[in-house]
Amino acid sequence: MATKHAPLSPRLSIYRWLPGMIASIAHRGSGIVLVLSVPCYLWILHGMTGSPQDFDATVAMLHSPLGRLSLWVASLALIYHFCNGIRFLCLDAGWGESRMMMRSSAWLVMAIAMLFGVALGVVLW
Ligand code: HEM
Repeated sequence: MATKHAPLSPRLSIYRWLPGMIASIAHRGSGIVLVLSVPCYLWILHGMTGSPQDFDATVAMLHSPLGRLSLWVASLALIYHFCNGIRFLCLDAGWGESRMMMRSSAWLVMAIAMLFGVALGVVLW
C-alpha cells in the first residue's frame, strides 16, 4: 500500500538514474532549448534581412565564439530532440517497449547526439 507521503507524480529525487530516464530528461531539456531558440532564430532572420550594416553585424555575431556556441547548442538540441522524439513515437506505437530495447534505444539516441555534437564542433571551430 502507498505510504501517506508518497508523491502522486514521480520526482527526480526518487527516480533511479537509468538510461531511459536520462533520455527523457534530456528530451525535456532539449525541448526547452528549442522553444527558446525560436525567438533567437527570428531575431537572426530579422538582422539578416535588414540593412547591409545589420546583415554584417548579424554575420559577425554568428561567427563570434558565443554565436558558434549558440548554433552548436541549438543544433545539438534539435538533433537529439528529433532522434529521441522518433524513439518516443515508436514507443507510443508499441515498438521497442521491452526493458532491453528501452535501454539500448536510449543509449543509441544519446550516442548519435554525441557523435553529431563532436562532428558539428569540428565543423564550427
Ligand atoms: C524535429 C522533430 C521533432 C520531433 C520528432 C519531436 C517529438 C516530440 C515528442 C514525441 C514529444 C513528446 C515527449 C513526451 O512524450 O513526453 C515532444 C515534446 C516536446 N517538444 Fe518536440 N519534437 C520535434 C521538434 C520540436 C521543436 C522544433 C520544438 C521547439 C521549437 C519542440 C519542443 C518540444 C517541447 C517543449 C516538448 C515538451 C517536452 C516535455 O515536456 O517532455 N519539439 N517532442
